[in-house]
Amino acid sequence: MPHLIAPSILSADFSNLRKDIEMINSSEADWFHIDVMDGVFVPNISFGFPVIKQIKKYAKKPLDVHLMIIEPDRYFERFKDVGADIISVHYEACKHLHRSIQSIKSLGLKAGVVLNPHASVSVLEDIVADVDLVMLMSVNPGFGGQKFIENTLIKIKRLKELMQKTGSEALIEVDGGVSLSNAVDLIHSGADVLVAGNTVFGSDDPVDMIAKLKNIKAGK
Ligand code: DX5
Ligand code: ZN
Repeated sequence: MPHLIAPSILSADFSNLRKDIEMINSSEADWFHIDVMDGVFVPNISFGFPVIKQIKKYAKKPLDVHLMIIEPDRYFERFKDVGADIISVHYEACKHLHRSIQSIKSLGLKAGVVLNPHASVSVLEDIVADVDLVMLMSVNPGFGGQKFIENTLIKIKRLKELMQKTGSEALIEVDGGVSLSNAVDLIHSGADVLVAGNTVFGSDDPVDMIAKLKNIKAGK
C-alpha cells in the first residue's frame, strides 16, 4: 500500500480554516489529522467539538482524530457525532485500553493507540492485533513545530517485528517533526502514515509540499 499523508490542522490558519480545509481537499493528502488537547494530559489546549464539526462539514477526506486527553472514553460517541472516522487514544491515558479500543470499534470507527516517545513498543504486545492503527509520537505531544526524535526509526522496526509476531495488520503512523528530510527514512523503515503540521503549513506551497511527501518512493 502506498503511504498516506495526514496534514495536521493544529498548524492551520484558524482565522481562515475553510481555506486550509479546501487546500487539503485539493491536494494529494489522504486524511485530516485532528489534535485534541485537554491541558491535563498535555500542557496545551487545542480545540474541541464545535471546531471539528465545522471541519467535517467541508472535509472530503477522513478525519483522523488524535486524542491527547485523559479519560477519553467519556467522549467517543461525541467525537463520532461530530465526524471522526478514526479515533486514537494514548496508551498512557487509558487504564483499560482493551475496553477503550473495543468501544471505539463498536461505534463503527477505526481505532488506534498512540505511544509517547519514552514508551517501548513492547507494551503493545497484547493489544496490537486488536487495533487498526499504532501512532508513534516522534515528539513529546502538545505542540506543533518540534524537533523529530531520531529513536522513532528504531521503534518502527521493533513495532514491525512485534506486528509480524502477533499477526497485527495495524497501520503505523508517525506524528511529530516530520519533514522532507526524515520522511524518506520513515517510509523506508515501514511507516504507513505520516502526519505533518509545520512542514505543510509553514511551506510557501503546501499543496506541493504534500505532493512531495506523498511521492516518496518505498524501498531503498
Ligand atoms: C503534537 C501533535 C502533532 C503536531 C504535529 O502533539 O500531535 O500532530 O500537530 O506537528 P508538526 O508536524 O509541526 O510536528
Ligand atoms: Zn497528532
